[in-house]
Amino acid sequence: MNNFTFYSPTYFAFGRNTEKEAGHYVRRFGGRKVLIHYGGGSIIRSGLLDRVKESLKQVNIEFAELGGVLPNPRDGLVYKGIELCRKEDVDFILAIGGGSVIDSAKAIAAGVLYEGDFWDFYNGKGQIEKALKVGTVVTIAAAGSEGSNSSVITKEEGMLKRGTNSELIRPIFSILNPELTQTLPPYQTACGITDIMAHVFERYFTNTKEVEITDRLSEAILLTMIKEAPRVMEDPDNYEARANIMWAGMLAHNNIVGVGRDQDWASHKIELELSGLYDVAHGAGLAVIIPAWMTYVMHHDINHFAQFAVRIWGCEMNFANPEETAREGIKRLKEFYTSIGMPINFEQLGAKEEDIPYMVETMGLGENETRGSFVPLTKKDMEA
Ligand code: NZQ
Ligand code: ZN
Repeated sequence: MNNFTFYSPTYFAFGRNTEKEAGHYVRRFGGRKVLIHYGGGSIIRSGLLDRVKESLKQVNIEFAELGGVLPNPRDGLVYKGIELCRKEDVDFILAIGGGSVIDSAKAIAAGVLYEGDFWDFYNGKGQIEKALKVGTVVTIAAAGSEGSNSSVITKEEGMLKRGTNSELIRPIFSILNPELTQTLPPYQTACGITDIMAHVFERYFTNTKEVEITDRLSEAILLTMIKEAPRVMEDPDNYEARANIMWAGMLAHNNIVGVGRDQDWASHKIELELSGLYDVAHGAGLAVIIPAWMTYVMHHDINHFAQFAVRIWGCEMNFANPEETAREGIKRLKEFYTSIGMPINFEQLGAKEEDIPYMVETMGLGENETRGSFVPLTKKDMEA
């Protein structure tokens, strides 16, 4: 196990009706004037927006509001949010929605206190040095942004999707009521499940040895998703299944299953090009990339992939031919994706083979540069 530090100071409120405490938490964490930030309207239709506003009014917190965040959130609305916060003297951002809304909120929070262009944080030209506090009310179990230090934004010009990391944008509190996810369309539920599992895979396939505890925690998340996914696809109102998936989504990405080992992230790097260029859901892009990546790199540590097949899918270990076991595990994963309605190839996703050189080029890798650590991938590998 590698040395590590772990500090993940988000305060979580989990369970039924917890969104009614949003105002209480804003006050507790020092907010005076809030920007309520949200997406395309699901929270208006469900009545959630009104409930959260009511909770702010109850504790005399003033607010401004900015809706309209698109999935794969765009820089244009971030600039608008920054301007609005400055004009209204906002000191706290409350994101109500999924990863897209939360990431947009994080970008605004950092951008408000920065003299330059907030995009500097996303193209590697600047480091976040201060940010307004961000709180969240989560409506989809997926990206894990409610407990993560990351934000991913798409620049409209060229549809470039880029991410940034900073401890300063990790939410100060996050409210997770599984009931709020019951209105999700099945496709979004499935995309979320796929993303949650991918956050584990990026950490599980590692060259670091002897990380038993972290391996076992990772496997617990994967097994939970495999158990709960069919239950929730069949009965979207199943509270217990929703609850387990929602907490798993947080655990998969606040890095508790990442510490003590090298992490990969090449699949996410590749996927961002797909959701950037085609504006498809991040989870759907991952369902295509993850099994392809596994097949491409499995020979690097065939026993690890055989372990994945045995422990996660219950495959029988073929000691004479572990590759067969490994391949069976990847096949089962693809079947699982198909069973929840995810695409598993370019055609099903709506991506085009002829766009591959463009996507690889926009990743911005130099000739000898690589991404990923399990097997460092060059541009040529990415293309393959
Ligand atoms: O905009 P509204 O109307 O709210 O509709 C949304 C949106 O269309 C809808 N939705 C959300 N909650 C709902 C609901 N519809 C009905 N009922 C509800 N309760 O779902 C759609 C997708 O929402 P989005 O926020 O885009 O989903 P998700 O949470 O999957 O976020 C995806 C974004 O997060 C980024 C992805 O790249 C992508 O841009 N990621 C962020 C990460 C992070 N910050 O740590 C890590 C991830 O790896 C990921 O890259
Ligand atoms: Zn992801």
